[in-house]
Amino acid sequence: MDASHENLNTRYEAAAGKWRDKMRALGYYDGYLGFLTEPGQAAPDNSNVVDVGAGTAAFAEAWVAVNGQPASLTLIEPSPAMANRGVQALNARGVQPDVAHGLLGEVQVTPVDEVLAAHVIEHCPDPETALSDLWKLVAPGGRLRLVVSKPHWCNAIIWLQWRHRTFSEKEILGLMEGAGFKIDATYAFPSGPPSRTSRGIVASRP
Ligand SMILES: C[S@@+](CC[C@H](N)C(=O)[O-])C[C@H]1O[C@@H](n2cnc3c(N)ncnc32)[C@H](O)[C@@H]1O
Repeated sequence: MDASHENLNTRYEAAAGKWRDKMRALGYYDGYLGFLTEPGQAAPDNSNVVDVGAGTAAFAEAWVAVNGQPASLTLIEPSPAMANRGVQALNARGVQPDVAHGLLGEVQVTPVDEVLAAHVIEHCPDPETALSDLWKLVAPGGRLRLVVSKPHWCNAIIWLQWRHRTFSEKEILGLMEGAGFKIDATYAFPSGPPSRTSRGIVASRP
């Protein structure tokens, strides 16, 4: 991990204690539920799942609430404090996740049917590399469910704390297609902060 990621990681370690409540209070957990329950987007039974940049596992938790027990679930997360809270939240749902502590592209994880990644590529130094690393995590025929930040004044305020990137719809779809993904659907969060800060995309690896 380089110095800029060490610095980011220190800030996520400090934020971990309140992160899960914040994700709920601001409507992101409900937003993820809505995204994952869109018609035609159900996950196959007995999926193997990886949540990249899992944080406190809000996206993985929503995936389990919608789809039930996965065959396996791995959290890729550099911050131990965030990951520990994610493990606790998933344990309460009867899921025992594995944790790969580290950065996307640096940890070794077997490709799976379902890759989740919410608000993480905006922290990666090069989005093309990040999307190529996500593509390698998706098994052929599998899907990526991506949530990314979009240009909005709310994100300008969030940027003051997190220095994250935003992507226009055209830019992110072009980057995903360039990485080899087939775009299956885009999703507009209907209300609250997620509707202003984020968009969802479902894409598959042919
Ligand atoms: C904005 S939080 C999102 C957490 C979670 N996905 C959610 O929606 O609540 C970003 C998370 O990504 C992690 N992260 C940052 N850079 C990363 C990288 N290069 N690879 C993997 N995870 C990363 C951070 O530690 C943090 O937990």
